[in-house]
Amino acid sequence: MKYIEAGSYEELSRIAAGIIADQVKEKPDCVLGLATGSTPIGTYKELIKKYEAGELDFSKVKTVNLDEYIGLDGSSDQSYRYFMNHNLFDHVNIDKNNTNVPNGKAADPSKEGARYDELVASLGGTDIQLLGIGHDGHIGFNEPDEVFYAATHEVVLDDMTIDANARFFASRDEVPTKAITMGMWAIMQAKKIILVANGEGKKDIVDKFMHGPVTPKVPASILQCHRDVTVIYSKN
Ligand code: PGA
Repeated sequence: MKYIEAGSYEELSRIAAGIIADQVKEKPDCVLGLATGSTPIGTYKELIKKYEAGELDFSKVKTVNLDEYIGLDGSSDQSYRYFMNHNLFDHVNIDKNNTNVPNGKAADPSKEGARYDELVASLGGTDIQLLGIGHDGHIGFNEPDEVFYAATHEVVLDDMTIDANARFFASRDEVPTKAITMGMWAIMQAKKIILVANGEGKKDIVDKFMHGPVTPKVPASILQCHRDVTVIYSKN
């Protein structure tokens, strides 16, 4: 794994956006795996800047997002579909038909998971997968568990995750308790993975997933088995 320590959140965002921008320039119809959470917001801002400067063309780019809350769709401003529209898609020339987020309102989440994995496969996998990391080591919403789950699947969120995400909701009670997330197959088939982590509070988990044992108790540790991972960490 390649490790880059950025001097600031802005620098972290510029480095991550630079890698994604290079991919879009090299392969205009590339498939980007995208993430939500507060850390990638700066990366998306940098990508928007590059688009506005005429450096980037998203017209042929396709995207697949990692996860969505069960019970929410784009009509809710807490949904990850809304987040992506608001923080990136509405500001660049991407065709929304080429953007994909798991359907949090699917009647049968396991069928939705299978559909999503087939979609990722039919796109030929992602060229780059952007990831954040939870304090508990989750990637997407793959929470610490006894096993790694390969397929896109429904998960019950950890209390730690609900606590962390409560800041985006009016109260903790409003945070959905379940989500649908890409499993390890869809994440690990990416040709390249970028993981962004920001803040002193993430330092320990970054050390642990990079250097500790590969275990589903630290879901991000599976990235040690991927051959092209860049971790970008900034303390500030
Ligand atoms: P954060 O979330 O970027 O808001 O810290 C990361 C994650 O939970 O994946």
